[in-house]
Amino acid sequence: MSYPGNRWLLASISAAALVFGIVATAQAVDEEAARALAKQSSCFKCHSVEKKKEGPPWNTISEKHKDMAPADLEAKLTHHITSGEKVKFEDGHEEEHKIIKSDDPAAIKNLVQWIMSLKAK
Ligand code: HEC
Repeated sequence: MSYPGNRWLLASISAAALVFGIVATAQAVDEEAARALAKQSSCFKCHSVEKKKEGPPWNTISEKHKDMAPADLEAKLTHHITSGEKVKFEDGHEEEHKIIKSDDPAAIKNLVQWIMSLKAK
């Protein structure tokens, strides 16, 4: 185990792992997957990232709940899109909010985190 090349190899592997680790963290939210899931679940029928439709623009959500701790907001939004809770529309009528079309907690989490990451310019 002690021929000279070994240390260099180990050092390179650690450096590579570090770089990949940083890249993986930066890409924690997969926007493409989040958009695809939202599209597939017809969320964009009532929402857009920036424009007000029947539902609020998604880039206003984190601002609206800025007093909540991120973990609490994540739990709240997850509940919001998985439970079919009643929501009030502008014309005053209430209906059950649309439920996300996925059973994959990781995919739902990714969508919620993407929405939370959106900020109005
Ligand atoms: C039929 C229209 C409609 C569809 C479809 C719809 N929403 Fe909504 N959504 C609303 C309305 C209206 C509100 C505002 C509710 C309120 O403020 O009480 C809302 C609110 C939200 C909020 C903010 C919740 C909060 O607590 O601030 C999020 C996030 C959201 N929707 C995500 C989604 C996702 C994800 C989908 C797709 C699974 C989706 N919506 C589909 C109408 C819709």
